[in-house]
Amino acid sequence: MNNILITGGAGYIGSHTAVALVEAGFEPIIIDNFSNSDVSVLKGLKNILGRELTYYEGDCNDRALMEKIFSENEIKGVIHFAAFKAVGESTKLPLNYYSNNINSLLVLLETMEKFKVKDLVFSSSCTVYGQPDELPVSESTPRKEAESPYGNTKKICEDILKDYIKSGVNSRIISLRYFNPVGAHPSGEIGELPLGIPNNLVPFITQTGAGLREKLTVFGDDYNTPDGSCVRDYIHVMDLADAHVKALKYLFQQQDNFYDLFNVGTGNGNTVLEVIKTFEKVSQKPLNYQIGPRRSGDIEKVWANTDKINSVLGWKAKYSLEDSLRDSWHWQQKLVEKS
Ligand code: WQD
Repeated sequence: MNNILITGGAGYIGSHTAVALVEAGFEPIIIDNFSNSDVSVLKGLKNILGRELTYYEGDCNDRALMEKIFSENEIKGVIHFAAFKAVGESTKLPLNYYSNNINSLLVLLETMEKFKVKDLVFSSSCTVYGQPDELPVSESTPRKEAESPYGNTKKICEDILKDYIKSGVNSRIISLRYFNPVGAHPSGEIGELPLGIPNNLVPFITQTGAGLREKLTVFGDDYNTPDGSCVRDYIHVMDLADAHVKALKYLFQQQDNFYDLFNVGTGNGNTVLEVIKTFEKVSQKPLNYQIGPRRSGDIEKVWANTDKINSVLGWKAKYSLEDSLRDSWHWQQKLVEKS
């Protein structure tokens, strides 16, 4: 029995993690309400894996559905991705973010307890750090006031998990604090699929490169960074997927009543302008962009201290920024071919 439930498994990181799980000998079971993904992702997964995966269309807040999934499948562990994740949108719809992101975790934890499933990897985010005072940022760095309701839901969920373990349950839980996920599976069968105008930098760049957007606006070049544009730690989604598999395997070796958390980044920071230049190199064409005003809520610079995940989980990012942008561009071109 190697069934791993992936909530949000048709999403960007969830789908890549499904591939990594199969390659590691696990059997992913997907639940997704397709609010921020598309059923075509399952076809992409079938093209990569050569077979279909079990999936349930629905919402993690639906207790009856969650209990149905656990009763129909012997679940060994869970990876919880399903959540709303747009920083800007969360400032406009805070109640949607608090009820969806927090209630779905509570329903999941209660269902896992009912069915005596104790292993959980939770999708958290570097956004819980806000603008760190010291860089690279490590897990011991105190979390700051969240910059957005989205970031606050991640902080609250981490606190829920800590309190849950402190209550003495036999669960074993890891939170992974992602930095900036980018890239796509090298096959071009799955990748980031923003619905509507992309919030994030790389899909906006690739859509601009493909002529779907007229130009990219760089949100500020007057920051205290090497070229004035913001610095982020861009991690290939395949590396991120591998981190989830390693986290799960590590959990299976721990004593009951276990909680820990890890940064998942490359340990390097790149500016927005460096990302643009790297994209121009891999696409071999100039990108149309302009410098615009700062985006509210943006922090100036953040990148990960990855010593802990390197030493404890034996995980290290293998892909470079260039690899990520090459794979993102390949994916974008395949999307255009299919449209
Ligand atoms: C990166 C940089 C922008 C778009 C957020 C969440 C994080 C994670 C990833 C969920 C910033 C600049 C962007 C554009 C730009 N989400 N930019 N022009 O805000 O670092 O992180 O998304 O897991 O939790 O906080 O990512 O890609 O939006 O921005 O100049 O059109 O690119 O100002 O400096 P961000 P991003």
